This record gives sequence, C-alpha cells and structure tokens, in this order.
Amino acid sequence: MSASDHDNLDINKLPLHVAVIMDGNGRWAQKRLLNRVKGHEKGSESVRVIVKTCRELNIPYLTLYAFSTENWDRPKAEVSALMTLLNRFLKTEEKLMLDNNIRLNAMGQIERLPDTVRKTLFETMEKTRNNNAMQLNLALSYGSRAEIVDMVKKIATDVKAGRLDPGSISSDMIPDYLYTKDIPDPDLLIRTSGEMRISNFLLWQIAYSEIYFTDTLWPDFGREEFIHILEDFQGRERRYGKVPA
Ligand code: FPP
Repeated sequence: MSASDHDNLDINKLPLHVAVIMDGNGRWAQKRLLNRVKGHEKGSESVRVIVKTCRELNIPYLTLYAFSTENWDRPKAEVSALMTLLNRFLKTEEKLMLDNNIRLNAMGQIERLPDTVRKTLFETMEKTRNNNAMQLNLALSYGSRAEIVDMVKKIATDVKAGRLDPGSISSDMIPDYLYTKDIPDPDLLIRTSGEMRISNFLLWQIAYSEIYFTDTLWPDFGREEFIHILEDFQGRERRYGKVPA
C-alpha cells in the first residue's frame, strides 16, 4: 500500500511556480440551483486545499486568478459578495499563512478594490512579509493587457528621464517592469471548467508554461486531481522551442 498519495511524484521535478485560472464557480452553483455566490464560497474552500497542498509539496510560488479587471462588470451584488468573501478568506487564512511560512502578495489594480479589502490585504501582506517558504500571489483586479500597458508606461518614463537607452531594451529586462517582478514565470498553468482560453492572464509570463485544461469545476477541484496534474506535468518534455537533447 502507498505510504502517501503523492508517492509517484518526483519531488526534484516539481514546478517552481503554478498558476491557476479558477473557473466554474457559477456553473457549479447553477447546477445545484443555488445562487452563484455559493459557488464562490465553495471555491474558496478549494483555494485553501490547493494552497496547503503546494506548501506541503514545497512548491514555492502559487498564483491564483481571483478577480479580473473584466470581473468588475459583473452584477454589483456578485462583485460585492466576492469582495466580502475575499476579505473573509484573508482574515481566516492569516493563521494558515503565518503557521506555514507563506508570504502573501497581491497583483493587479489594487487601488480599485474597496477600502476594507485593501486594508485587510495590506495588513496580511505586512504580517507575512518575512515568510519565505512559499509565496501566494493573488491576481486581484488583474488584467494582463493592463499590466503590459503599465510596463510600457514605466519603460517610457525611464527613457524620458534618461535612465534607460531605448536601444538597450531587451526581453530580459521586461520582467522587471511587470507586476510579477522577482517571481519566476509559471512552469504550469491550470484552467478548470473546460474552457480553453487564457482570458487575459499572465500573457507575457506564460510564453513557455505547460498548460493543463480540466473539465472539473473549480469548487470540485481538489488535492487528488492537483497531484494527478503534477504527475502529468512531470511526464512532459519541455523544449522551449529547441530540439530534444
Ligand atoms: C470564476 O468562476 C471565478 C471567479 C470569477 C472568482 C474566483 C474566486 C474564488 C475562487 C473565491 C474567492 C477567492 C479567494 C482567493 C478566496 P465563474 O464565476 O466565472 O464561473 P462560471 O464561468 O461557471 O460562471
């Protein structure tokens, strides 16, 4: 009998950075004739499970697409419920992050978030600032095109100020101008709910990420499937456009 549920994983070949598009909360709820918000509530339980699993496996970076710039256009009641849920999650999971040496980071147009959420977010980020076993990145009010526009503005500012020569701009330096500065590109991107889209998520950073689409709706996504996906990832050959060695 197996001693653990991840005996088949090679701990030396785990991704450094996993990114997840957590999709299907609404459909999960609709299938049960529940309000969509119930789907988001159940979805935040899946968030907890995946955070704990990453930490246990020593995966150092996890990025979750929790709220996109486009999500602001959802009905007001749903946006407000998502903000309340996020605030609650940050408060209830603070202990998990402190006990497990997890640092919280947020990326996106954070200034658009309601004051209460921003306050909780900054408090949790401050309290977990020195944790260094794992970084949990929440993409909040995040859109990759907006991130790229911000990157261009920052570069243009540096050029105008004479700090940067346009001729020296290279792809190596772009990451320093993105919200993910100092974070390695995702090795693995997972999208739940059967949709085969990227939806404005980390467009620059996923250039060479392995992508895994699953039909599972996010509230049904759990540890077992996550470990299965990691096994699948370990079976892939990453060539980065080159020929096999
Ligand atoms: C997509 O499902 C999911 C979201 C827009 C929000 C994700 C939020 C959570 C998982 C919970 C709160 C987050 C944290 C970090 C605690 P959808 O509503 O688009 O589903 P649908 O496509 O079936 O309608």
